[in-house]
Amino acid sequence: MTVTQTAVNSIADRISSISVSSTMKVASDAEKLRAEGVDVVDFGAGEPDFPTPDNIKRAAIRAIEQNFTKYTPAGGTAELKQAVCERHALDFGTSYKPSECLIGVGGKHVIFNLMQALINPGDEVVIPVPYWVTYKDVVNYAGGKCVFVNTDEDRGFTLTAAMIEPSLNARTRLVIVNSPSNPSGGVMDRGEFEKIFRLTSARGIYLMTDECYCKFLYDSEPFSIASLAGAKETVLVAGSLSKTYSMTGWRIGFGLVPAPIVNAMTKLQSHSTSNPASISQKAAVEALRGPQESVGIMLAEYRQRRDFVVKRLRAIPGVMCAEPRGAFYAYPNVGVALGKNGIESTLQLCDRLLADAHVAVVPGEAFGTDRHIRISYAASMHELDRGLERIHQFIVKNS
Ligand SMILES: Cc1ncc(COP(=O)(O)O)c(C=O)c1O
Repeated sequence: MTVTQTAVNSIADRISSISVSSTMKVASDAEKLRAEGVDVVDFGAGEPDFPTPDNIKRAAIRAIEQNFTKYTPAGGTAELKQAVCERHALDFGTSYKPSECLIGVGGKHVIFNLMQALINPGDEVVIPVPYWVTYKDVVNYAGGKCVFVNTDEDRGFTLTAAMIEPSLNARTRLVIVNSPSNPSGGVMDRGEFEKIFRLTSARGIYLMTDECYCKFLYDSEPFSIASLAGAKETVLVAGSLSKTYSMTGWRIGFGLVPAPIVNAMTKLQSHSTSNPASISQKAAVEALRGPQESVGIMLAEYRQRRDFVVKRLRAIPGVMCAEPRGAFYAYPNVGVALGKNGIESTLQLCDRLLADAHVAVVPGEAFGTDRHIRISYAASMHELDRGLERIHQFIVKNS
């Protein structure tokens, strides 16, 4: 047996229960092609194309100069926890205390730790489709069972209480809601969100609200379900600074959850990552407490791009596109290009789009649907124009 075969055979079973993040795979495939000198237009990355605002960068430089470069408490500094609670209170009218806050190495880390802290083998977790790729893998890794609930493309993929109610039972531990949604840009109707809260809290089921894109809304005001009376008991907020402040590489996310869950997550974190980077934590304090104008500037830019992208996609014969009402993704239905020219799935479509048209997008299969692709419009208008033209030509040729 070769060294490689032996290593393959020795990988632990729990790793086989998860798959490589499809968005990361698209990024690495695109990177390979680019390294060969190919001019790739990249709509794969779910990452703002804006630089981190200057005031945040300066706070990090100050942290280094003042030697704030050592370990901090595993669950984050008291200063940052306080800043998170204050920002959430200012934005949404909530009343979290630092003891109900945990700082993690990005929102993804917080969600991973939350699942590890809460899910016992066989516990059911309700996940609306289309879903962010990571949810199902972190639930599987924790030994939970994903219960998928379909949403309706004609209603912008938003979830209603009636859609999830039949899936709730004695084994349901958690319902996940992500509004605005990655990948669809769908935004929960506030009344429906409240109904879902009432359904879950009445049954003692946790409701995790992933607020990663909560500031990027095009026609409604930012809102947190955690602001409802009595929400603190069963609502679990997973937040991130990555998109709001264009800080993806700094790796800062947070959880606002009951104190015993903070303690459980901190225990796990203390044996895995320890603290998030001390310098990033100082930068995050500035992001949360400093001027907030950059968020509105990014939102205005995303709105223009959203309008442009939706118009261009709808101009491709046979392509349908629900209007994204938040985040920075479009999720067009490209079923017209399937079943022809050897393209049977959106996975194959995306491979061909990359190989032949040199555009990177993520296949709908990654998010639980089979006729869509995800286009991240966190890219310049010039890139959007070039890439959408390539997609248009490719689909016309292949449908
Ligand atoms: C829906 C959603 N939640 C959470 C995250 C986590 O982001 P991060 O780990 O960068 O904070 C992402 C990132 O793409 C996301 O799309």
